[in-house]
Amino acid sequence: MPTQQGIVGPIPPGHDPEEYDKLRRRVLWKMPSGLYVLGSRAGERRNGMTINWVTQLSFEPKLVGVSIEREAFTHELVVDGGVFSVNLVAQDDRAIVRKFTKPVDVDLDARTLNGFPFHDGTTGAPILDQAVAFVDCEVRQTVELGGHSLFLGEIVDCGFQLDEETLVLSMGDTRMNYGG
Ligand SMILES: Cc1cc2nc3c(=O)[nH]c(=O)nc-3n(C[C@H](O)[C@H](O)[C@H](O)COP(=O)(O)O)c2cc1C
Repeated sequence: MPTQQGIVGPIPPGHDPEEYDKLRRRVLWKMPSGLYVLGSRAGERRNGMTINWVTQLSFEPKLVGVSIEREAFTHELVVDGGVFSVNLVAQDDRAIVRKFTKPVDVDLDARTLNGFPFHDGTTGAPILDQAVAFVDCEVRQTVELGGHSLFLGEIVDCGFQLDEETLVLSMGDTRMNYGG
């Protein structure tokens, strides 16, 4: 995953840039977020990626935004395929997110991503069988942000696969962080 080069401005007056940079990072890490596996697909290429920059962005239409590194294989697949799925992972399944931080091994005969069984959603994007719930989206807009692209996807299908009461994973349940 790319790391930020140098200190990004603006820096408020009277602050030491280095100290402020560290402070801003800690504040950003403090912002609560979920932690998901993003499914992507273009033709027969599929991938799953750990992601926390995910949120609903509009009531009407039902849009979900996901922000993806331009260098990621997932970025290529979402640009080419125009679809993605967001898999909500059970809190008990937290170890899974470490398995989706680089392009995955796809076994089309066994229907697995890195050994985790999946099926194709309505859009064709892979959905993990063990996801508590999922949203399956078609990309409606893309906003270039610099190092990342924000893809705005309209929900074309969604559902629960496990009991609705199952606790789902958040970044705060792990010792990981991203961004800042
Ligand atoms: C906890 C955690 C959260 C992450 N959140 C994001 C994210 O929101 N957006 C993103 O582009 N990458 C995120 N990543 C990084 C990707 O999972 C990772 O860069 C991966 O290399 C990209 O995968 P790909 O090349 O298989 O598509 C996160 C990684 C971790 C460990």
